[in-house]
This record gives sequence, structure tokens and C-alpha cells, in this order.
Amino acid sequence: MHALDALPAGDKAATYAELEQSLRALLDGEPDLIACAANLSALLYWSLPQLNWAGLYLIEARSGDLLLGPFQGKPACVRIPLGKGVCGMAAQRRETVIVTDVHAFPGHIACDPASNSEVVVPILDGERLVGVLDLDSPVHARFDTADARGLEALVRVFVAAIRRG
Ligand code: SME
Repeated sequence: MHALDALPAGDKAATYAELEQSLRALLDGEPDLIACAANLSALLYWSLPQLNWAGLYLIEARSGDLLLGPFQGKPACVRIPLGKGVCGMAAQRRETVIVTDVHAFPGHIACDPASNSEVVVPILDGERLVGVLDLDSPVHARFDTADARGLEALVRVFVAAIRRG
């Protein structure tokens, strides 16, 4: 994990607004799904404090499963069926899921024992489920609704970029 000081909650909106500008610049003119996903995960991992994993799982057309996509962090579980784990739940419900303590979440899929909290944001292009954005933290209750709203805004920028492809 890269260590940075925790952000005061009030600064989160400003941080995410800055990240949105950075992401727009990074994805400008590039619609490739994998390239955009790689830079989204790297931007988040290297900008946000207290993360030990940031990445995407992308829907595999053949199976409908979530398949590991570009990420930063330790190697992770490769395939997650819809409805399984935090990622599968967010994908199935098509809504952001915040887990303050992953050890208390029934069905949580542990990829890195260092993870204690998690947020998963579904990636939707209109009605089409593209995948999910998943962030893990070694800190309990690392993510709140300010993170959820900020990450959802970043996902909208990501979807707009890949839609141009
Ligand atoms: N914890 C996730 C699995 C993915 S890893 O955290 C990278 C889950 O329960 O879906």
C-alpha cells in the first residue's frame, strides 16, 4: 500500500473535482476500453490515500461474469459471477455498494487479507452494464457517500470516453 495522510471528509469533494479534471485529460481522444480502464485505476490508486487496491472488473459477454480488468494492487480473483461478493452485488443491483467492514459482509470475496473496507461502483452505459469499479482499503470505514458520489462522477467521465469508440 502507498501511504498518504487521510483526507478530511470536507476535502473529498474538492479532491474528486480535481481528479475529474485529471481523468478528462487522461482519457481525452482515447476510446479504448482497456487503455481508459488502466489509466482510471492508476489515477485513483496513486491519488487517493489509504488504498491497497483499485481496479475494474468488466462484463465478459460470453458468460455474463465480471472478469478482472486493469488494476493497481496485489493480484486479485479473476472471475466473479453476478450476485457474488461485493462486486457481484453492486453489478446485480446496479447501484454503488459501500462496505465499512468487509469481514462482516456475508459473501465478501477476500483477495488481499489487508483489505478492511471497500466501495464498488457499477459502470453503466445507458442500460448496458459494462462492469464495476472496485476500491479496497486497509482502513475500516474508509469510504463514505462523498467517495461514492465522487467515484460515480469519475465513472460517468469514463463511460463518456469509451462511448466515443
Ligand atoms: N472483494 C471483492 C472482490 C474483488 S477484490 O476486492 C479486488 C468482492 O467481494 O467482490
